[in-house]
Amino acid sequence: MTGFDSRALAGKSAFVAGGTSGINLEIALMFAEQGAKVAVLSRSEEKVKSAVAQLEQNGGPALGFAADVRDYPAVEKAIHGAAEAFGPLDIVVSGAAGNFLCAACKMSPNAFKSVVDIDLLGTFNVLRSAYDVVRKPGAAMINISAPQSTEPHWGQAHVSAAKAGVDMLTRSLALEWGPEGIRVNAIVPGPTEGTEGMARLAPTAEIRTFIEGMVPLRRFGTKREIANLAVFLAGPGAAYMTGAILYCDGGQVLVGSRPKPPGM
Ligand code: HXC
Ligand code: NAP
Repeated sequence: MTGFDSRALAGKSAFVAGGTSGINLEIALMFAEQGAKVAVLSRSEEKVKSAVAQLEQNGGPALGFAADVRDYPAVEKAIHGAAEAFGPLDIVVSGAAGNFLCAACKMSPNAFKSVVDIDLLGTFNVLRSAYDVVRKPGAAMINISAPQSTEPHWGQAHVSAAKAGVDMLTRSLALEWGPEGIRVNAIVPGPTEGTEGMARLAPTAEIRTFIEGMVPLRRFGTKREIANLAVFLAGPGAAYMTGAILYCDGGQVLVGSRPKPPGM
């Protein structure tokens, strides 16, 4: 169930950084189903190959690049390569992220830096290099944020700091690039079923039940529910939206910061 006319993104070209697994792969697959040409980037050659094969099955054509979002020249080469192959990019998603549970008092400076560099510097690298090759006017950029950007969670100081930066980068670039017809928005997924993120943050049935109890809709979301919002933001229905931080979280943000989870 998509809620969209089929092929709402026909003829568009899209680049999804971190698009080889989880939520971002679902977004890439749904873009392909809706008629877009899609390029994905992540570190693992194997994951890139598998994602490209799935994208080709979902519509194609597709391209893949193995690179680290912390490496600006490599990101630039990939994004410019995608634009050479597909034409000016209409849609750019920045969703690469790293996460682990770790109390701040036990975290090394390099652990903190790793997550900030992947999530925040990586998002700057993706959007900055895409700026040169996106369609102007008309491009849609979408960052993937997290509930931790506004609510502190136990063991998530690194992620909160990084994703709060992603939210403000979204608003800053929306302001600067709006006059050229580039829209920049962010999605805040809530806890999402079948993802690496929840495998790391809800490793036991007890913690999962605890998190579900903090969500007004009392369940985890699905990857497709997040991808639906990405398709909307990428398409003409969102033509007057920029600088928005949109929650797709079953209402979790209404509840505020979580108490210390069991076992932490
Ligand atoms: C404490 C840890 C750690 C852990 C790594 N480190 N794992 N510290 N607890 N569990 C420390 C290391 O000791 C090292 O510090 C530093 O972090 C860098 O580690 P590397 O392994 O060298 O880094 P790197 O290879 O760049 O890997 C990055 C990573 C890794 C974030 C550590 O887990 C990764 O690649 N993750 C990508 C996949 C992922 O996390 N997906 C989930 C996204 S979900 P020292 O000091 O020893 O050098 C998400 C959800 C948000 O973001 C919201 C959900 C609601
Ligand atoms: P995931 O499957 O681990 O996805 C992360 C993606 O980013 C993978 O494709 C990974 O591939 C890539 N990546 C990681 N580090 C990278 C780097 N340094 N350079 C390039 N690519 C890198 O995680 P997910 O749980 O679906 O999360 C996806 C997004 O949603 C993230 O932005 C996350 O913060 C956000 N989010 C998730 C949840 C949730 O419930 N899961 C909730 C809120 C927000 P490689 O390993 O090949 O690099």
